[in-house]
Amino acid sequence: MAADLQGKVALVTGGSSGFGKLTAQRFAARGATVVVADVAVEAGRAVADAVDGRFVALDVSDSARWGTGLDEALGSDGTLDVACLNAGIGTNNADLLNISDEEYRRVVGVNLDGVFFGARAAVRRMRSGGAIVATASLGGLVPMPNDPVYSLTKHAVVAFVRSIAPGLTDRRITVNAVCPGFADTPLLTDDFRAALAAADLPLIDPEVVADTVMRILDEGRTGEAWFVQPGREPAPYEFRGVPGPR
Ligand SMILES: NC(=O)c1ccc[n+]([C@@H]2O[C@H](COP(=O)([O-])OP(=O)(O)OC[C@H]3O[C@@H](n4cnc5c(N)ncnc54)[C@H](O)[C@@H]3O)[C@@H](O)[C@H]2O)c1
Repeated sequence: MAADLQGKVALVTGGSSGFGKLTAQRFAARGATVVVADVAVEAGRAVADAVDGRFVALDVSDSARWGTGLDEALGSDGTLDVACLNAGIGTNNADLLNISDEEYRRVVGVNLDGVFFGARAAVRRMRSGGAIVATASLGGLVPMPNDPVYSLTKHAVVAFVRSIAPGLTDRRITVNAVCPGFADTPLLTDDFRAALAAADLPLIDPEVVADTVMRILDEGRTGEAWFVQPGREPAPYEFRGVPGPR
């Protein structure tokens, strides 16, 4: 059943571009008041204006800014119903010995700290239930030798989502992850696109990823990590159980 977002407030981080922009459009089309949060100010304002929403300049890796930013966007007592924690970056660096501390911290800051700070801030404001969807990646389910730090953060996002979901059911808050393979957004560099094309690997249409976020909301379950792959129906990934003590 399509989740009715009429009268609801929906936040999208990384909403200035790619999946976030398309998801913001879908939230607005379902009737939500959309808050676009991003470091890309001009593009973010344009997305927010187009959906009659609000823009907030927010670096998701900055814990303190989550407080002031949401105060600005929602008012100090404002409620949030949906949070799409989607902002993310890569290192595009496969060479462990040449990944600097700064590069490592930058990617962990945005992709992992950003989801932790965002989930905590969102739950504080979800007073009558809610839904959180974090954008992880297929690189959160399988190793990614071309960008190990990115893969580290996305595995952590999947683990975090699955770990906090059970503790939030009493508050009627669902928490899920979407795990797309390579998709046609500005995140992919020209070199990487060329390498994918040379390997005959198709790109996912980003619209399918945004549609999957909506499906996750509509299904209403929690603690799932949905894969999105070209030519396959998106679905929750079925984790194999690890051997137990007995
Ligand atoms: N494109 C892909 O192939 C692919 C595949 C799997 C997962 N993802 C993930 O999808 C998410 C969205 O990426 P996209 O492909 O739409 O890329 P994109 O580059 O089009 O969008 C990412 C957005 O995040 C914003 N952003 C970056 N750092 C930020 C910060 N510190 N605070 C707030 N916003 C910040 C950017 O300004 C941009 O608007 C990311 O988490 C990415 O890792 C992308």
